[in-house]
Amino acid sequence: MKVFIVYAHPSEDSLTFHVRNSFIAGLESAGHSWIMSDLYKMNFRTDMDEEEYLREAYYRLDLKVPEDVKAEHSKINSSDAIVFIYPLFWSDAPAKMVGWFDRVWTYGFAYAGTDDKGKLVSQGRLMKQLEKGLVLCIAGNTMEYFRETGILAALEKVMLDDRLFDRVKTKELILFDGTSRETESRTSRWDEFLNRAYRAGADFLPCEISR
Ligand SMILES: Cc1cc2nc3c(=O)[nH]c(=O)nc-3n(C[C@H](O)[C@H](O)[C@H](O)COP(=O)(O)O)c2cc1C
Repeated sequence: MKVFIVYAHPSEDSLTFHVRNSFIAGLESAGHSWIMSDLYKMNFRTDMDEEEYLREAYYRLDLKVPEDVKAEHSKINSSDAIVFIYPLFWSDAPAKMVGWFDRVWTYGFAYAGTDDKGKLVSQGRLMKQLEKGLVLCIAGNTMEYFRETGILAALEKVMLDDRLFDRVKTKELILFDGTSRETESRTSRWDEFLNRAYRAGADFLPCEISR
């Protein structure tokens, strides 16, 4: 399978960076190929300009899709699966990644418009349905905290049910919890985190699907 990784972390001095590398090592061990958008490194622009806003707000297919967004569309449609890797910032992905969704999930590509009766008002959507969507989210707080507060459910709702929706056939969110620099578990569980990331890559869907 060809896997498109969307990665967002501002520093290589991070657990997230190591999780990313272990995941890639796992993917390669299973014979998968991959491409990546490293959003901070690319200095990906995350703010919509006015024309982009008007295109989305008024379903204006006549307004142009910027070239950097088209490049992301090509990466998606040339892949079989998509993987998001990021640290949790204020109970969401970093703004760098949220802005990627704002700009890349465009009308006519990631979704088609419907009228108030649910009837399609555009030609449909150009984005192919991917075999799998995987989210690797690295978070400071504990799983207990995320369950009790409902934040885990919220993360799954937003990333899996809303952003990935039916754009992928299967989907999963793996939360790496208890990774805060203030906690002892960050160091004691470091190898466990990296093994888990490696396994997520090595046990990705079988290669036969669409290589
Ligand atoms: C601006 C900022 C906001 C953060 N917000 C949260 C948060 O809402 N919940 C949480 O569990 N951790 C939060 N963290 C901790 C990060 O998820 C932290 O980056 C995580 O431990 C991963 O470690 P790494 O940055 O070394 O990859 C935040 C960190 C920063 C810098």
